[in-house]
Formats: sequence, C-alpha cells, structure tokens
Amino acid sequence: MKATAVAPSNIAFIKYWGKENSDFRLPLNSSFSMNLSETYTTTTVEFSPSYKNDDVVFVGGEFSVRETERVTDALGKMREKTRTHSYARVKTKNTFPKGTGIAASASGFAALTVAGFAALGFSLSEKDLTIFARLCSGSACRSIPDGFVLWEKGDSSETSYARSLYPHTYWDLSDVLVIVDAKMKKVPTTEGQMRVQTSPFWKQRMQKIPERMKKVQTAFEEKNFSLLGETIEEECLSMHEVMQTQVPPLFYWNDLTRKLMKLIQTWRSEGLPVYFTIDAGPNVHCIVEKKHVALLQEKLQTVSGIHAVIVNSAAPGAHVIPQHLW
Ligand code: PMV
Repeated sequence: MKATAVAPSNIAFIKYWGKENSDFRLPLNSSFSMNLSETYTTTTVEFSPSYKNDDVVFVGGEFSVRETERVTDALGKMREKTRTHSYARVKTKNTFPKGTGIAASASGFAALTVAGFAALGFSLSEKDLTIFARLCSGSACRSIPDGFVLWEKGDSSETSYARSLYPHTYWDLSDVLVIVDAKMKKVPTTEGQMRVQTSPFWKQRMQKIPERMKKVQTAFEEKNFSLLGETIEEECLSMHEVMQTQVPPLFYWNDLTRKLMKLIQTWRSEGLPVYFTIDAGPNVHCIVEKKHVALLQEKLQTVSGIHAVIVNSAAPGAHVIPQHLW
C-alpha cells in the first residue's frame, strides 16, 4: 500500500490557456510540451486502514490550505475510482525551491497520480493516468508520458489525454531556465484561466493554434530549430497578449523578464540560436540546442539580478522508483 514516483515539470511550446469545461478541465486547445530533467517532484503515498485522515507533508516548506485541499481532493478521487476506503499519508518534495515560480502543479499531480495508483496496486494505462492527472491539474497530464508530449484537446473526459510524440532522446534540446524572481506572487492559473474570454484576443489566438501546432510538428520532424524557436516565441507572446488583456489583466513579467527577452533577440542577431518562452510567471525559459548551452550560460553571467539558472534537458515521464521518502 506504499509507492513512490518521480515526475518532471514540463514547459509548453504550444500552451494551454483557457478551458472549455472547468469541471473536467477540458482545454480550449491542444498543447505540446517538453518534460524537464532538473525540475521534478518525488512523492511517496501510503494508504492504510489504520489512518484516520489524509495527511500531506511538503518537505522543506508548507502547503497552503488550498494546496492541501487539492491533494486531498485527488486522494478522494483515487479512492472513488478504486473503491478504497483507506486514508493516505503523502510526503512530497521538489528539486526546485518552492516559491520561485516554477509551476509545481504539473510535476506534483503527475507524481501523486502515479504513486497513488501504484500504492493501491491499481493498474491504469498511461492514457488513463494522464486523464486522471488532467482532472487534478490540466498541465499535469503532460508530465506522465516520455519526452515531448501532446495533450489532445479532445471533446470529452475520455478523449482529452496526453501522449508522447517523441521520446526524450529524440532531440538534444535544452531549457535553460532563468529564475528572475524568488518571491513571486502569482494569480493561480486556475483563476486566471477562468477569465480568458474577457480578452478581445482569445479567439484570434485559438484560430492560430492549429497552424502553430503544425509548424512545431514540422520543426520536430525536420529538427528545424529556427522554425521551432520562431513558432514558440510567437505562441508565448500570443498567450501573454491574452493574459495582459483579460479583465482584470494579468501581468506576469517584471523588468528583468523584459530585459532578458530583448537580450535573447540581441544574442540571436549576434549568431547564438536561442529563443524564449514564458509561463504564468516572470521566469524565462531559454530554449537552445545542447551544443549552445555553454555560450548561453556565459552570456547570462553578464546579466545582473538573476536569482538562479537551471539547465534542463528533455526527460522521461513520471515513473515509480523503489526508494521511499520515509
Ligand atoms: O495546469 P495549469 O492550470 O497550472 O495551467 C498551466 C498553464 C500554463 O503553464 C501557463 C501553460 C501550459 O500549457 O503549461
């Protein structure tokens, strides 16, 4: 009744912003992401008939009431699905410091899903695991399959799931993640996404997504890095255009975010092939091929105010490991 899983966080190249159905977390559009090797969650879950309640421990910090509730809700859904009555102990830790604005809900709920069902000895297909994780936190479904992952929008809970399009070994891409703010206060994405349709630009963005998705897939087939980079930057800017024109507007960037975006353009014009993408926070994900990581790191060293730099490569999806957290 005890199991441990590791799950990577992921960075979306084609992003998910807005739901068609909030109850089932069905997205407005399909999305595509890369699993990240250095920012991951490890979670141990143990169910026992002797436990009187669910107990959730976050190693090295604390969960807010809301975060704890989301975990216990997920445990409740697991019990319902497996017809179990036992409560659980959950211990979870991240490789990245909490509060630095790296979305931990993707890696967190993917690890909880895989560890929880394994602890219950309940075997689910990868597809069904991604569906369960999606119900806990949308982007978590993309942290379960290997490498470069497509989350199909679908039109029902059964058809909205994630699958690997390319294994993590397919292309030597790196995400050099620049942490620019250690004390980020962010509007939770669940809340922000509810107001997507108040932006006058959301429909325009939706119309462009299929074309961008095709371009990203072509870039992968051909390993065409500039096509990939141009498309993901355009996609990132279009998501933030929607965020910034929602009512009320969501401004996730700070001065250093904007400075880095401009520097990346400059470095590119000087011959370093690097592109940015940014999630619901101020941190900048610099996408480069592995062979250019060292030069990019040198350039980043000249920029003041950076809190930390984490060099990620593409990673496998969530999986069970034999060592438990207690
Ligand atoms: O899964 P959520 O509700 O944390 O939403 C994540 C949304 C973005 O990170 C902004 C984009 C994405 O597709 O990951």
